[in-house]
Amino acid sequence: MTRRFIGVRWWLGAAFAVVAATSTAIVVSQFSTRSENAFKSQAAHLALTDARTAAAKATSSNLGRLAKQLNVRLRIDPAPSAGERVTGTANGGTFVASVPFHGKTLVATSSRPDVAAAIGTVNGEALRAGVIAGVVGVIVGLLLAQLIALRLRRLSLAAEALAHGDFETPLRFRFRDEFGALTYNFERMRRQLRRSFRHIEGERDRLRMLLERLHEGVVTVDQHLVVDFANNEARRLLGVRLAAGDQLPEPWEGFSLREFVERLFDPDASLAQAHVRPDEEHALALVGIPAQPEGDTVLIVLDDLTEQERRELAEREFVSNAAHELRTPLTTIIGAVEVLQAGAKENPDERDRFLAHIEREAARLARLAHALLALARAHAGQERPRLEPTTLEPILREVADDLRPRDGVVVEIECPPGLAANVNRDLLEQALRNLGENAAKHTVAGRVVLRAYATGRTVRVEVEDTGIGMSSETQRHVFDRFFRGADRDPEGFGLGLAIVRQAVRSLDGRIELDSAPGEGTRVRIVLERAQVREQVPA
Ligand SMILES: Nc1ncnc2c1ncn2[C@@H]1O[C@H](COP(=O)(O)OP(=O)(O)OP(=O)(O)O)[C@@H](O)[C@H]1O
Ligand SMILES: [Mg+2]
Repeated sequence: MTRRFIGVRWWLGAAFAVVAATSTAIVVSQFSTRSENAFKSQAAHLALTDARTAAAKATSSNLGRLAKQLNVRLRIDPAPSAGERVTGTANGGTFVASVPFHGKTLVATSSRPDVAAAIGTVNGEALRAGVIAGVVGVIVGLLLAQLIALRLRRLSLAAEALAHGDFETPLRFRFRDEFGALTYNFERMRRQLRRSFRHIEGERDRLRMLLERLHEGVVTVDQHLVVDFANNEARRLLGVRLAAGDQLPEPWEGFSLREFVERLFDPDASLAQAHVRPDEEHALALVGIPAQPEGDTVLIVLDDLTEQERRELAEREFVSNAAHELRTPLTTIIGAVEVLQAGAKENPDERDRFLAHIEREAARLARLAHALLALARAHAGQERPRLEPTTLEPILREVADDLRPRDGVVVEIECPPGLAANVNRDLLEQALRNLGENAAKHTVAGRVVLRAYATGRTVRVEVEDTGIGMSSETQRHVFDRFFRGADRDPEGFGLGLAIVRQAVRSLDGRIELDSAPGEGTRVRIVLERAQVREQVPA
């Protein structure tokens, strides 16, 4: 039940009115009683003087004349007098004075309609003045109450604005009274609050910016499982357009995110962790931080482990592949040495044959070491490759000159002579060399073209051949380390295109592969915003 609101102007006004009316009534009654008494005592005094005069002059014969002379009625009461006495009627119209007269009593009765009229007039005037004073009192009271109410109301409105988070409207204090002091203190409080609030807002914005930049997903959720905040990464990992005010979603089948969060609201909840596998490929780590004693939201941190797991797997595969590749020539070398030691070295033909084995395998080891080094360099380049304006045509020419295609295969260059791009020369050359070698290796007839051109600021560098092409299955894996196609080159390690991919990543570019079995292959390196206008020396 809500209590009825009675404004201060009403009860204060009513109090003023009661006070004014009461004091007016008291004043009026006091005033009229006093003036009535003054009139009456004056009239009584006159009546007594008349009676005394009459008693001094009266004889039994001149009583009538004397009465006329004094304008009173006179009579002699045979009863002896007990002393002088005056009485008057309530309205002051008649006064009776009795004085001793030769052992009897002389009674003088004077009629005073003037006194009665004067008392009536005075009472009427006093009443009117009283009513006027009363009305003025009530009006002034109401006005004062209104004024006080108005000032209180201003303060109340200001407090209400503060409660609604408006710290901008200033309060004015004109009068130096208690209300003025209250308003002044209120204004100080408002400024202090505004300062603190701005500070908190600034901190909050900074925190949000920081959270947006985090690599982990961060979501805060209230008791009703409504999202209070979610950063970009959280939206990506939860796979929904999550905004403040949305219900927390249930994005995964095998794991209830909402139950996980609900448990964090238990009074004795502690830090919670979970590992989620939304599907075969993806993995997530969840950390739930329970609500603080004073807070009403819990924090969830989501960490995408997919990339990390994939990297770890690739790393393991890489090491085992590298070990395998190293072991094969080493086994051959060791076997050959053993055979030589066992006596083959005595036989010149045998010796030469095994030495040739050793030489070939050693060369293969050297090439493998070289390729692994190139891969490592391309990886390292990813950290911060030095990009500089480079003219492309000389690089293409150098690579083309070193290619050893089969007989009947021509190597061509198509490149505007002045075309320059902002690249790292070593990385681009390494990539082109590997692409060129692949093209030369897999092309039996026709041509190999090394091409560079620009569209807008985008520079494209590509190697095209009319070779055997690749199946779509091969295309899917060619950039994996140690992958070799079905029609493999026995000398290859399957590292060439992995090196290309790494180098292109380091150059901030992307690769497009276009190949059809029996028709040929084109591998294109796309470098966005790489073109530089000025002509630079190679
Ligand atoms: N131009 C091409 N035409 C047809 N197949 C190709 C071409 N380039 C690459 N391939 C296929 O892709 C596979 C991987 O190529 P990649 O360059 O990574 O390794 P590789 O050439 O076999 O060995 P490496 O380059 O390490 O000496 C090759 O084994 C081949 O099957
Ligand atoms: Mg290769």
